[in-house]
Amino acid sequence: MIIAIDGPAASGKGTLARRLAAHYGLPHLDTGLLYRAVAASLIAADRDLHDVDAAVAAARGLGLTEFDEESLRGRQMGEAASIVAAMPEVRAALIEAQRNFARRPGGAVLDGRDIGTVICPEADAKIFVTASAETRAQRRALELAGRGEKADYAAILAEIVKRDARDSERADAPLKAAPDAVRLDTTKMSVEAAFAESLRVVEARRR
Ligand code: DC
Repeated sequence: MIIAIDGPAASGKGTLARRLAAHYGLPHLDTGLLYRAVAASLIAADRDLHDVDAAVAAARGLGLTEFDEESLRGRQMGEAASIVAAMPEVRAALIEAQRNFARRPGGAVLDGRDIGTVICPEADAKIFVTASAETRAQRRALELAGRGEKADYAAILAEIVKRDARDSERADAPLKAAPDAVRLDTTKMSVEAAFAESLRVVEARRR
């Protein structure tokens, strides 16, 4: 069974994907980490984030398991990842590894922006997770504060709005719900309620 979870930054898709993977005993791939790792590798090599050749080389050199999540989850890296993710060449370099991950025997859970539309259009269950920008900014501020990062709510909200626009307006594989995805608005939902609802969606699709 392949479960595809898509949605904007800080919508809660990662938490839901992790919990669904644990529930069904499936491997989970947070595809945002791939773009974050490409951006981190450019930054470490002191290259421009718009350098397509360097970004493609970094994407080709990535494995799917060697992420230093702690450093990749930082605030700046989300913005940098969104810049490299807009390059069609970078996306093309990462497609096969994501599809291979999804098509392993038994299936997998993947979360990102284009899982239901481009990476796994054949997924058994697709959920498009949303929440208001304000709610997402509050969640991100709490998460960053928990990690000891400076978290100014107004600045985080502005970053989220800008990143939504870049991720949704790019020409290649923009953030959008697949026609057969179930939309889940978590603005007023607890994590538990959102998980219960996503389980219901997956179970309905399995039947
Ligand atoms: O989900 P995230 O915040 O970790 O993703 C970081 C950036 O990577 C996001 O702003 C856009 C890009 N991304 C993408 O273009 N496609 C994906 N499947 C996952 C992430």
